[in-house]
Amino acid sequence: MKFFIDTADLDEIREAASWGVLSGVTTNPSLYARTGGKLADFEPHMVKICEICEGLPVSAESTANTTEEMIAEGRRLAALAPNIVVKLPVCEASLPATHQLASEGIRVNMTLVFSAPQALMAARAGARYISPFVGRFDDIGDEGLDHLAEMVTAVKNYTYGYWDEEGGPEIITASVRTPHHVTQAALLGADIATVPFGALKKCLKHPLTDQGLASFEADWAKVVASQ
Ligand code: G3P
Repeated sequence: MKFFIDTADLDEIREAASWGVLSGVTTNPSLYARTGGKLADFEPHMVKICEICEGLPVSAESTANTTEEMIAEGRRLAALAPNIVVKLPVCEASLPATHQLASEGIRVNMTLVFSAPQALMAARAGARYISPFVGRFDDIGDEGLDHLAEMVTAVKNYTYGYWDEEGGPEIITASVRTPHHVTQAALLGADIATVPFGALKKCLKHPLTDQGLASFEADWAKVVASQ
């Protein structure tokens, strides 16, 4: 499974990229708003992310409402950098927009996906990536991972005639809150987990690693002191 980072914060993206484990970036309007960015700076900000993560897919979300506006905004976003992926929310307007953009070779990440039928329709329309949200199910007392399991199985049962040569459509487990989500997403066969920086750091930690390191350091200090 690949790791994407789910943030628009440039420092977080730079630090995660420096670890050498990053395969992409996802953003959304809320994540951009959290950076304090202004409307006029949105597209230059996306270009900066694309430069930091050269060659890696960077999802920039459209805020358009109609099919025509989504197509126009998708084309504009895709022209910003070769690694831009246009993020569209799954809905009636976005399916024909995805179909059109895919026919032009523009990659779409279909987001806000909460059910297998939505995921299957995203794949049929030509989405390059499909983003089921896990944590938001948990937030309302449901089991996000159960829904993810359904969506992975349903989508992977078929081929779609788009993005085959790139191994698409790929499933991005989104709305990730915990290392447990990451583990289970991998076990369920999701292609990607997009993880906020805080959760990404938690994925690296384990109390037994810390304990082991502390005892190695203490024992090595004894060896050094014996010289
Ligand atoms: O980027 C989409 C998704 O990962 C958002 O997650 O935490 O706002 O539910 P969250």
